Amino acid sequence: MKYTTLLAALVAVFGASSAFADGVISDIMKKYHKAPEGQDPLCKKVSNGEGSAGDIATLLKAYEAMAKEKPEKGLATSWEQKNAALIAAVKKLQKDPKDTSDYKKAVNCKACHEPHKG
Ligand code: HEC
Repeated sequence: MKYTTLLAALVAVFGASSAFADGVISDIMKKYHKAPEGQDPLCKKVSNGEGSAGDIATLLKAYEAMAKEKPEKGLATSWEQKNAALIAAVKKLQKDPKDTSDYKKAVNCKACHEPHKG
């Protein structure tokens, strides 16, 4: 009984803070934006118009998760805009995987790292 109470308390504490959410953006970057040497990251495959429906759905989920996070620095409104652009571009790709121009713009590494990466 005591043990479950303690667990519940821990869940409440960590759930309320961002203790578990700190690495969300980092994880997404490592998983989808940067691939190991010699491999193309998912964002590149999708930028080339070669994303499968599954790839595109994976990115959409990732960007929706990223939009709920706070970047290391920069204005919240700018972060919201950049994530909204990514989400809108991916939704467009769901209709036509070859319609990559908006995604290429939205996924620009430097344009987002400069204002938001510490
Ligand atoms: C919409 C914003 C945004 C875009 C677009 C973006 N990044 Fe990032 N990236 C970030 C932020 C914010 C961080 C810092 C995350 C942190 O450490 O909390 C980051 C961190 C990273 C990291 C470090 C991850 C780690 O912790 O080891 C890599 C690698 C990376 N990005 C690669 C890329 C590449 C490659 C692209 C372009 C194809 C890209 N990112 C596009 C926002 C973005």
